[in-house]
Amino acid sequence: MSDEDADVELEARLREQEYFRPPSKFVGQANASDPAIHDEVGEFPEGFEAYAELLDWDEHWDETFDGSNPPFFEWFVGGKLNASYNCVDRHLGERKNQTALLWEGEDGEQENITYQDLYREVNEMAAALRDVGVEEDDVVTIHLPMVPALPVTMLACARIGAPHSVVFAGFSASALAERVDSADSDYVVTIDGYYRRGEFLEHVEKADTALEEADRDPQVLCWTRHDEVHDSADVSDEYTMVPELLEDHRRETVEPVSRDAEDPLFLMYTSGTTGKPKGCQHRTGGYLAYAAATSKHVLDIKPEDTYWCAADIGWITGHSYIVYGPLALGTTSVMYEGTPDYPHKSRMWEIAERYDVDIFHTSPTAVRMFMKWGEEHVEGYDFDFRHMTTVGEPIQPEAWLWYYKHIGDEDAVIVDTWWQTETGGHLITNLPALDDMKPGSAGKPAPGIEPALVDDEGEELEPAAGKAGNLIITRPWPGMLQTVYGNPERFIDTYWADFSDTDSDDWTDWNYKAGDGAVHAQDGYWRILGRLDDVMNVAGHRLGTMELESAVAEVEAVAEAAVAAREHTEKGEVPDVYVVLREGVEQSEEVREDIIEAVEDEIGAFARPANVHFVDDLPKTRSGKIMRRLLENISNDADLGDTTTLRDPSVPERIREQVQGD
Ligand code: PRX
Repeated sequence: MSDEDADVELEARLREQEYFRPPSKFVGQANASDPAIHDEVGEFPEGFEAYAELLDWDEHWDETFDGSNPPFFEWFVGGKLNASYNCVDRHLGERKNQTALLWEGEDGEQENITYQDLYREVNEMAAALRDVGVEEDDVVTIHLPMVPALPVTMLACARIGAPHSVVFAGFSASALAERVDSADSDYVVTIDGYYRRGEFLEHVEKADTALEEADRDPQVLCWTRHDEVHDSADVSDEYTMVPELLEDHRRETVEPVSRDAEDPLFLMYTSGTTGKPKGCQHRTGGYLAYAAATSKHVLDIKPEDTYWCAADIGWITGHSYIVYGPLALGTTSVMYEGTPDYPHKSRMWEIAERYDVDIFHTSPTAVRMFMKWGEEHVEGYDFDFRHMTTVGEPIQPEAWLWYYKHIGDEDAVIVDTWWQTETGGHLITNLPALDDMKPGSAGKPAPGIEPALVDDEGEELEPAAGKAGNLIITRPWPGMLQTVYGNPERFIDTYWADFSDTDSDDWTDWNYKAGDGAVHAQDGYWRILGRLDDVMNVAGHRLGTMELESAVAEVEAVAEAAVAAREHTEKGEVPDVYVVLREGVEQSEEVREDIIEAVEDEIGAFARPANVHFVDDLPKTRSGKIMRRLLENISNDADLGDTTTLRDPSVPERIREQVQGD
């Protein structure tokens, strides 16, 4: 079957998917229950003022949107506010004794942090950061796992106007070093260790190695997972121990710094099509307003809810929908340190029952895993979600239906939220009380968001025609990234150049390129097909092919390498590595291990290749470009397709035989 036939068939199958109505008890209580919200927020740009009004401002903005210097758009210009004040202080009047964070350690330890506690902890940490020299606008790199120290440190940075750059704890020392250098960061915040599957991981070691590798020489602040350094961790004398530092700042308060709406709140590094990750820079006012409003309208969060987003704060989902959005709304959030199957496969449902969680947020990868484990691990746990989210990858209708039935008890809404690190918050997703759910489809655009599809030449496709195209967003929104840190050219090249008139100073000529393919179906629903560029999605983690390839190329035995995404029933995609070894080097288990180790060292264990194939040549065009698409077809048992443009058309067939057999 050709790609096109497959697409038509899938489209027909998805068209047949039934719609599911939100339960009336959900609709009756939903935050967004009036369809007029689409028209109101859609008034550009004033409609987004309602989002900013969810926040407390020190000074009101003068201008809602400034599009005079595209694509460097500005939001709520002239306004001043502090994100930590909005997420913490402003709740003290009404709910200081309400729990802000319900933290559960993997070992079963629990911590109940009220808004008053959070206020105290954030203030003390802000004072501690100042004490070691952190000033407004200094970038603080945070390399922490899912422990309360992470949101506390982020909010402490926000309080003193120091943008944070959180690096997912699973990233390796080299990845940490690269991000420290790239962000010109002079401070790293880490921890002695944390728990994974019952083991104490000595996390601080990554900071030790990163310091050796980085060009900069940042100061390191080290939290401890227990009251004291855990026996097994060896913490350098050069590091400042946070618990001791905090002793000097007990009960101290730090006045929140009034930040311009356009001052950066944080950087979040993400993979792109080059070997170097980009620092997506998010602004304070527009980002926080967008995260808060989408938390309210899409996630339906209310202060009295118990909300659990089972993502990691080290990725954008955790920034927007564990820390900033939910805390800005003053709700109670669950945070879990460990893995979902430790010590047993019902751990998630045990937690949901214990805290009586109302809203649950996870990824299709996790749903597929729960589905594989079987519903018997869910049965018998007494929890009742009213609302569930999926994010990060397309969800197959089968997995959606399982989630709906076995986790939601056919009684909860599901929102499939499409967005990206760059977009700050949801862009395509139904508002759960207003639109029916359609398994496998992200749904309609969020209020005020105008997506469109274009062909490769930039010609717009007819709306709702059921055809696939490049997804673009034609109008700015407050949550969008400001720029790529330190690299405005890369910002323009990556997101704008392809489908905008870059000579124009009229913002309406500029279109944001998402990098995803999508179909706009006849019913007006959007289905996301996945990345069109060399970016893959491994268990919801975004990984650049080039980043993986440069890691593999570090191995001395390797002459050339290419990485292809192989479809995987649970993880969505996994990396397959194809390598040509240097003359005279024999393929061996040792070289294979070196390659895997190089990826783990350069990026992290989560990026570990599924297969390493030793081949004698890579498929290349006559101009020498590696045709990764062919390798992808081989990895996925698909037809090779057209190979006539290759320098040596016999290469892919040889590789295919080697990988797939005859
Ligand atoms: O390909 C899309 C996929 O994840 C990419 C963004 O990855 P990241 O920046 O890591 O952010 C993930 C969490 C927001 C997108 O370009 N993606 C995200 N959400 C969905 C999705 N694909 C299909 N459906 C979704 N709901």
